[in-house]
Amino acid sequence: MQIIVLGSAAGGGFPQWNCNCEGCRRARSGDPLARPRTQSSLAVSADGRRWLLLNASPDLRAQILATPALHAVGERRGTPISAALLTNADIDHVTGLLTLRESQPFALYATARVQGVLAANSVFQVLKPEMVPRRAMALGTPFQPAGPDGEGLGLEVEVFAIPGKVALYLEDESIGLNLGAVSEDTVAVRITDTAGGGSFFYMPGCASLPGWLADRLRGAPLVFFDGTTWVDDEMARTGTGVKTAQRMGHMAISGPDGSLAAFDGLGVARKVYIHLNNTNPVLLEDSAERRQVEAAGWEVAHDGMEFSV
Ligand code: MLT
Ligand code: MN
Ligand code: ZN
Repeated sequence: MQIIVLGSAAGGGFPQWNCNCEGCRRARSGDPLARPRTQSSLAVSADGRRWLLLNASPDLRAQILATPALHAVGERRGTPISAALLTNADIDHVTGLLTLRESQPFALYATARVQGVLAANSVFQVLKPEMVPRRAMALGTPFQPAGPDGEGLGLEVEVFAIPGKVALYLEDESIGLNLGAVSEDTVAVRITDTAGGGSFFYMPGCASLPGWLADRLRGAPLVFFDGTTWVDDEMARTGTGVKTAQRMGHMAISGPDGSLAAFDGLGVARKVYIHLNNTNPVLLEDSAERRQVEAAGWEVAHDGMEFSV
């Protein structure tokens, strides 16, 4: 199974259009130690011919152009993209669907909750049901994703609910502290190559790592994990905003409640931070924070990074 990181940054990308924080300034100036990154997405394939997108970012058009494996095929119109799967309904994970609107069949997988969010928004009707079948994923029930023609992709997928948050544009503060989130709002995905047996987890948004979740990840060969911020109050500290990472449904990397500490001792063979916010100092290759995550055995994803499992 091949995995390509299409986009490694969080919503906004790196640099973000309206941000002049240190990292964004360095990335914009062409600093080789502050490599630009597009927004959150992976592509996965068992046969190198038919690909499953994990999330569809607003940068999808540029990501496809930058990725030869995803270039158009056939005499006139055609694509190696057979299906797309959404881990939540966040803007940075769904708006790329609109880039795929040119009468091209592909299958669209999401939980019933996220399918409901798409169905309630008429702009997504541009993806006609006869071209783009929408298939609901049940939590905790492994399935084999297939292209629009029903031909299996040689993968097994399991999605399960993890701590997270409802999409920003659906937040309802009147409901209380959880803002109206339901368990299907944020899922982790585990993908296995049905022939080769290799597998990995993808969790670009995760608010905490309770014991049951740590146990599920224990000994995994490869995990892509939420690397949105270094500290919980990073937006305030960098003068870029007021929300904490927790308030945005993300778990910071550092500190006693951070992901570095939570993964310590889990025996995950390859740990990769992804969905990195532009304020995160681990994006800067000469930072002390970058050295610290690397010393703990983590890799920091960049666009175009490839994996074979
Ligand atoms: C997030 O990951 O917190 C969201 O993508 C934020 C957003 O909707 O911009
Ligand atoms: Mn996001
Ligand atoms: Zn910035």
